[in-house]
Amino acid sequence: MSLLIRGASQVATPLGDTARRGTEFGRLSIIENAVIRCEGADLVFVGDAAEHDRRFPAPERVLDAAGGCVIPGFVDPHTHPVWAGSREDEFNRRLAGESYMDIARSGGGINATVRATRAAAFEELLQGTIARLDTFLEHGTTTIEAKSGYGLDLATEVRMLEVIGAADRKHPVDLHPTCLAAHEVPAEHRGDPERWVEELVAEIHPSIARRGLAEAVDVFCEDGVFGLDATRRLLADAAALGWRIHLHADELTPLGGTELAVEFNALSADHLMHVTDAGIAALAGSQTVAVLLPGTSFFLRSSYAPARRMAEAGCAVALATDCNPGSSPTESMPMILSLATLQMGLTIEEALTGATLNSAAAIDRAAEIGSLEAGKRADIAVLNGPSYHHLVYHFGVNPIRHVVKSGEIVVRDGQRIAG
Ligand code: NIG
Ligand code: FE
Repeated sequence: MSLLIRGASQVATPLGDTARRGTEFGRLSIIENAVIRCEGADLVFVGDAAEHDRRFPAPERVLDAAGGCVIPGFVDPHTHPVWAGSREDEFNRRLAGESYMDIARSGGGINATVRATRAAAFEELLQGTIARLDTFLEHGTTTIEAKSGYGLDLATEVRMLEVIGAADRKHPVDLHPTCLAAHEVPAEHRGDPERWVEELVAEIHPSIARRGLAEAVDVFCEDGVFGLDATRRLLADAAALGWRIHLHADELTPLGGTELAVEFNALSADHLMHVTDAGIAALAGSQTVAVLLPGTSFFLRSSYAPARRMAEAGCAVALATDCNPGSSPTESMPMILSLATLQMGLTIEEALTGATLNSAAAIDRAAEIGSLEAGKRADIAVLNGPSYHHLVYHFGVNPIRHVVKSGEIVVRDGQRIAG
């Protein structure tokens, strides 16, 4: 089936099939009054309407952008979208001065969600995840990376990754699964965290790799969770299993996880609120993408990653929601773009590139998605406003009018279309 999107005021997109950095980070292609043609799941033409009409037959379907701006569907390269329960009870405690780590040490935090998730059946987890995916899609996100990590035992980690696989098959949003069994030390191993690392290496990671349930591994490399030595051991083992690497690095303290991620040629080093100059230099000289999560800084009322310095040093910078029940309960990439611009000082052009092409590179998919050009997948968002500036200008509301995923209309006039 062919689909023609017409009536757009402009098409705004980065171009290329690798992460953009340096002066290219903020360079968009902006074509006024362009049309976009999809054939099946693929983009086949982006450009002038008259040229389209000369080269192609009449389309089978038309979507009217109604004067909106057209951008690539967002790629969210860091999410924890599978969980049961919720943690709104921690909100006022944090406002009253308790830190994220204080709450974790008192039995809340990740381990609270682990208790609820272990007790939840497959179907309950799947329904919760699908509901979140609808929200992702309504906010313009067409692909996410999705982590496990609220099981912290083999059975529940497997169940979470099977939920991610089932959600990928059932829902238009594409999910790229990451094993984050090394998210925390579970309560039953608190007295002997080394044994937990041994269990991850000897049993949990190999069993999950054998089942083919994950593309990549992640570790919460943090003081009091997995230190540098434990993280190094986990990453070396995971790389030998054939997994690519993402790493929660330098989120709460400057431990040096960023340099470790670069040493292991990770796809991404994530969070980086406390990255050091040495970490920035290491990233700038590597292919590892810096995935920044300003929603977490906003929600935990902590500092923001030094995005401007990283961009100027030549790092490949991407943006993600970190969607999770404890430190960033949001599916909204437009919210993340608001924070990336107003709080971290990225330009709108850089933020859009960071949320599309560079985030596709962070999950090794920049050749297929992340920009609007012939040959890429037809994953497209149409904004309510006439220029991409409206993404962040009209803040705190959903700026998305329509969404097309793999050539199918899945959100029309802000409403999710079933299927
Ligand atoms: O990315 N840092 C560790 N993991 C999550 C938080 C998960 C949670 O609090 O449930 C994060 O911030
Ligand atoms: Fe995270």
